[in-house]
Amino acid sequence: MKNIFDAPFIREMRAVTANMYRLGWDERNGGNISYMLDENEVAEYLDLNSVIRTIPTGFDAKELIGKIFIVTGTGKYFKNIDSDPENNLGIIRIAGDGTTAELLWGYSDGGRFTSELPAHLMSHISRLSVNPENRIIMHCHPDNTLAMTQVHEMDERKLTRTLWKQMTESIVVFPDGIGVLPWMVCGTNEIGKATAEKMKKYRLVVWTLHGIYGAGKDMDETFGLIETVEKAAIQYMLTAHLPKVNTITDDNLRALAKAFNLDYRKDFLD
Ligand code: 13P
Ligand code: ZN
Repeated sequence: MKNIFDAPFIREMRAVTANMYRLGWDERNGGNISYMLDENEVAEYLDLNSVIRTIPTGFDAKELIGKIFIVTGTGKYFKNIDSDPENNLGIIRIAGDGTTAELLWGYSDGGRFTSELPAHLMSHISRLSVNPENRIIMHCHPDNTLAMTQVHEMDERKLTRTLWKQMTESIVVFPDGIGVLPWMVCGTNEIGKATAEKMKKYRLVVWTLHGIYGAGKDMDETFGLIETVEKAAIQYMLTAHLPKVNTITDDNLRALAKAFNLDYRKDFLD
């Protein structure tokens, strides 16, 4: 059996959470990540017949029975993951009943997975239904995206258009646009279901006055999506109160879509 601390998925979780913390996206215990792992790869590091304990999830994820995820712990700080991954992360497998998580590694102080597990697992189900390659769901609280939810209309078409017009790369990176949820109580099955519904159409979902969710096939894609939204939101927050002299027009966006052969939300343009 190989040493789990050498596993690429542990290294990736340590690196990305440290990076997100340094960017200010994950204050205190803010944010959470779930990453679907390959069973054969996990078996190189863990005895898959050895379950440390079982934890009820409180919802049915039968589409994910047998699937294994590495998930950040609830109440745990991204700041601390790199120095103590075994306490702040856990590897869980969805048991045969679809409603129980089998802990295979981690949460070493008796902890459990993020309170946002409903939004994560339900979003995995949605994304896998449109893209079987999807592996990551990432949630965080980036400053400018969050600030925008206080001052911008929270309408999917309007928010996406504004962000597309902040910088040329926006429509290239997220041509599918951004889903929006109104303010809701977090950590519930209700916000999980609402997020997953949006995830059938979008890889990005903004939670008003809370943060953002991203989905992708790997850490780079998922992180890159959120990073690009946040960059566009920075442009907006830096300039929203100033007279606009130059803007990206709808025709400019159409030209980008043509040049990059984008499958984009055409109904989001005038
Ligand atoms: P957890 O500590 O349970 O992951 O919650 C953090 C958070 O961002 C809630 O939305
Ligand atoms: Zn949050």
